[in-house]
Amino acid sequence: MERKKRSKINKFKVKESTAQYYAHEVPHFEGFMDNIIHGDNLAILKLIPDNKISLTITSPPYFKQRDYGSGIGNERSVEEYIENLIKVFAECVRILKDDGSIVFNLGDKYLESNLQLIPYRFVLEVIKTFPVKLVNNITWVKLNPTPRQYRKRLVSSTEPFFHFVKDDSYYYNLTDYLNNGSKNKKHNGNNIGKKYFELIENSSLTLEQKKLAFAELQNVIQETKTGKIESFRMKIKGIHAEPFGGQDGGRKYQLLKKGFTIIKIKGEPIKRDVIECAVETIKGSKHPAIYPLYIIKELIKLLSKPNDVVLDPFAGSGTTAVAAKELNRRYIGIEINEDYCKTAKERLKKTNKENLLGLVYES
Ligand SMILES: C[S@@+](CC[C@H](N)C(=O)[O-])C[C@H]1O[C@@H](n2cnc3c(N)ncnc32)[C@H](O)[C@@H]1O
Repeated sequence: MERKKRSKINKFKVKESTAQYYAHEVPHFEGFMDNIIHGDNLAILKLIPDNKISLTITSPPYFKQRDYGSGIGNERSVEEYIENLIKVFAECVRILKDDGSIVFNLGDKYLESNLQLIPYRFVLEVIKTFPVKLVNNITWVKLNPTPRQYRKRLVSSTEPFFHFVKDDSYYYNLTDYLNNGSKNKKHNGNNIGKKYFELIENSSLTLEQKKLAFAELQNVIQETKTGKIESFRMKIKGIHAEPFGGQDGGRKYQLLKKGFTIIKIKGEPIKRDVIECAVETIKGSKHPAIYPLYIIKELIKLLSKPNDVVLDPFAGSGTTAVAAKELNRRYIGIEINEDYCKTAKERLKKTNKENLLGLVYES
């Protein structure tokens, strides 16, 4: 399997250790930093030495969807398109640090009313070809899809973001992902747990059991009010159904012996492989396919640290670079269309690094 993967890589002319191979070009690399480079990504990526990039986030052009002037997306067949993407991906793997990540966002395409499943065909080729692991297929749910209802087809309103890594040691900051600052909200309401007081009072528990139940109920109400826990549920013997399964000493046992049990809900929200966001447009921008700054910022927070280098080889209007700059990461953008390079640079000029300490950063 390993040998098979390597021979495939060679098909795309990627050398095992390319550091020396590209050594004479290295001086260019420093100049790429915090810049949008105009040119063909394959040629430019080859100027970047091995193991330099912490995170690549990108969205290649759809197959035959839009005319960006030149570059990838105008191939004659889906196979040729995927082959060209794979060549770019090979370079992204080579220049990725061992603890880094690659995120590819791809759109699908109907040809003669037949959905091509292009993103998935690309992923299958990637995992066949390279020694990388697919961590997640994160689904972007578009809150404002194109408002055009076909008669015999539902409206496409999702796009995948594929997260690949080289190694299990990949950097991952789950705490900062989708963290809107509210861990457990404090509750001020006086109604918390009120119904349980009445239920205990009217239950068939003994006086001792009722006293203990009231005391423990008071405690969890306090914990909920101060935000220590998100919420709780109480089960009372003779009133609520017994919990399923369980072991001795578990909830069933508590219900039997104490006459009640309390389930505390800690409130750390589950972080799912779905992210909801509207499709964005930027006033005055000529670029037809911009991905949402919000999603890219969340992924940068999840997969990189401040000062890490974030790369976008299909930079377009520079969304990845803008997100990276706002979050105090370094960035490299590569874009084949000169007009889009200008758009990206203008956006970057207007972008400030995030005001982490209430200070304004000049850049
Ligand atoms: C879907 S757009 C990226 C949009 C970007 N994510 C944004 O938010 O603005 C893809 C971009 O890739 C560029 N492109 C296509 N082939 C390229 C190549 N070989 N090298 C560099 N850029 C290329 C296109 O000009 C286009 O702007």
